Amino acid sequence: MNAHIIGTGSFLPEKVITNFDLAERMETSDEWIVSRTGIRQRHIAVEESTAGMAAEAAQRALTDAGMQAGELEMILLATVSPDHIVPSAACEVQAMLGAVNAVAIELNAACSGFVFALNTAQAYIRAGIYTKILVVGVETLSKLVDWTDRSTCILFGDGAGAAVVTASENRGIMDFIQFSDGAKGEALLCDARPLHNLFVRQELKQEYVKMDGQEVFKFAVRRVSESIDQLLERNGLSSGEIDCYILHQANARIIASVIKHLKADADKFPTNVERCGNTSGASVPLLLDELNRAGHLKEGDRVIMSGFGGGLTWGSIYMVW
Ligand code: UT7
Repeated sequence: MNAHIIGTGSFLPEKVITNFDLAERMETSDEWIVSRTGIRQRHIAVEESTAGMAAEAAQRALTDAGMQAGELEMILLATVSPDHIVPSAACEVQAMLGAVNAVAIELNAACSGFVFALNTAQAYIRAGIYTKILVVGVETLSKLVDWTDRSTCILFGDGAGAAVVTASENRGIMDFIQFSDGAKGEALLCDARPLHNLFVRQELKQEYVKMDGQEVFKFAVRRVSESIDQLLERNGLSSGEIDCYILHQANARIIASVIKHLKADADKFPTNVERCGNTSGASVPLLLDELNRAGHLKEGDRVIMSGFGGGLTWGSIYMVW
């Protein structure tokens, strides 16, 4: 059995900040941001919480799937920006939805979060343990970026996306591949609470996201292309046989490099990075929901999803829609 997506949903905060708005507050320009990243605007949480956005996206996915929250057996929620350490945003979403029969688990794999969570759902479904799973990717990155650091704050946005998966014999995830390289973790760093106890009082060193942009850029281009190549090869497919590539929306130049490497048709790489910025673990399900609602994905379409980012982590999925 394969994990097959039967419903999608998403949520974006109401407040939109354009590059022009940012240029009024810091030394940057629309021209610089667009030429380096493709981003024109991003949504930023003002009233919204991480769990609240996730629950809204999840409810929309359940409605799309025609499923009641009480039917869910598991909630897998990917985020690096929860509202609390305890309870997890996964448990908060369970409560908000009234998904009383679901176990709720949170997963931190930064921008690969949704892809890794979907792979985890696949493993549970393959093992025959559960058949009805909600997978969510949600981020409020705006609270983790340093708004005085123009090299990072212009990149990120907030939002949530969700998918309901059930077991299918012929459709859904056919194969996936996923990796981590913890030795390169410093390339994209944000500290948690420092050690503070009876014996020691450490200072918080890296309160906000710090990134070696060029290192992450090179990593992304190389590893995404490589993981898609591997997935295509072991499934006997050429890049042209894929109908749609849903890549993590970090940067339009990274996506352009992957298209060039695969010698693929650019029309098969839809984007929303220009409107949403980099929403980390939420970007893949946000784009997926946009495509699903627009009727862009047809039964039997071959779809590749790729996530990459902090950890470092990366991975790709091959699925039949
Ligand atoms: O989910 C994965 C997340 N990470 C990513 O996707 C990031 C991947 N990396 C990138 O996309 C690019 O490295 C960035 C867009 C972050 C930066 O582009 P870059 O071409 O690597 O720029 P840079 O860091 O080499 O900086 C070039 C110049 C510097 O000025 P000097 O030293 O040449 O005078 C920066 O200070 O651009 C300057 N700069 C800016 N200028 C205007 C940096 N940020 C800005 C800005 N506006 N916002």
